Amino acid sequence: MKETAQKLIAFGKGILAADESTRTIDERFGAVGIPSTPETHRKYRQMLLTTPGIENFLGGVIFFDETVRQRLGDETFPEYLVGRGIIPGIKVDEGLEPFNGTEEKITRGIETLNDRLKEYGQMGLKFTKWRAAISISDIFPSDPFLAENMERMAAFAEISQQNNFVPIVEPEILLKGTHTTTRCGEIETKVLQVLFEKLKSKNVDLENLFLKTSMVLPGEGSGVKAEPLEVAHATLRALKKSVPPEVAGIVFLSGGQTPDEAMNNLNEIVKLKGDVPWEISFSFARALQEEAMREWAGKDENVPAAQETFIKRLEEVSKARNGKL
Ligand code: 13P
Repeated sequence: MKETAQKLIAFGKGILAADESTRTIDERFGAVGIPSTPETHRKYRQMLLTTPGIENFLGGVIFFDETVRQRLGDETFPEYLVGRGIIPGIKVDEGLEPFNGTEEKITRGIETLNDRLKEYGQMGLKFTKWRAAISISDIFPSDPFLAENMERMAAFAEISQQNNFVPIVEPEILLKGTHTTTRCGEIETKVLQVLFEKLKSKNVDLENLFLKTSMVLPGEGSGVKAEPLEVAHATLRALKKSVPPEVAGIVFLSGGQTPDEAMNNLNEIVKLKGDVPWEISFSFARALQEEAMREWAGKDENVPAAQETFIKRLEEVSKARNGKL
């Protein structure tokens, strides 16, 4: 676990989230008119992962169950990545379900996790990810929802480490809503405090755990766009109040920001971080893939152009990860 934790976000590197569930990739392909079949999913991941040079900027790639079983020539995707010095990991939550008949949606998948990890270990996967989605409104998130959702996330981390996987805990505060940056910061702080209490009570080894979370932003329906400096201050304030120093690293999701917004905000966070005890990096899905997916459009002849777009964005985001944009 130690070696995986050190390599995942080594200097200049981050993690590509290519773990869209079958439903999510259907939606993303649908939005740009690409037919969604297991073979187009496979070709899309092949386009991304065979891009020359990605190993300079990626320490790890997160997959979904469908992709780890697919092949690139005579190798599986995880085997191919290992050959290029990139660590393969897997999203292991099984999506969301209604919580106690409310609008809140809680993450599921703990009961079957241990058995699934046995198989993923044999496939050569080294790290795991579990996402919780937290909406902000005047009344949500509720305390019982947060307690149960973070309890499950901590159980995921414990079971992962028992099976020698480095867990990435991902509480995502959703951008949807009309909330202010201040309220987002308060909720982010509270969610993380609850999460780390639960992790500590289960004796999870924080030195072999990553936090993946959202930046502190105003809701997309608030009519406000925060400048990178404000986002960076608000995000670092929330993290300093809630994340213990032992944590191996913090990686950000892009969460519906444009690629430029996510990248510029990351750059500012790293520039302003001072002597915080954790490494900070990226684990974007949309902000790394959006432009390349559109360029590819499901067509073999577009692969070189899409790969060029992908590597350019990755290189820039890697600069931002070092605060050197
Ligand atoms: P985005 O960067 O698109 O938010 O995705 C990150 C992720 O892994 C969501 O679970």
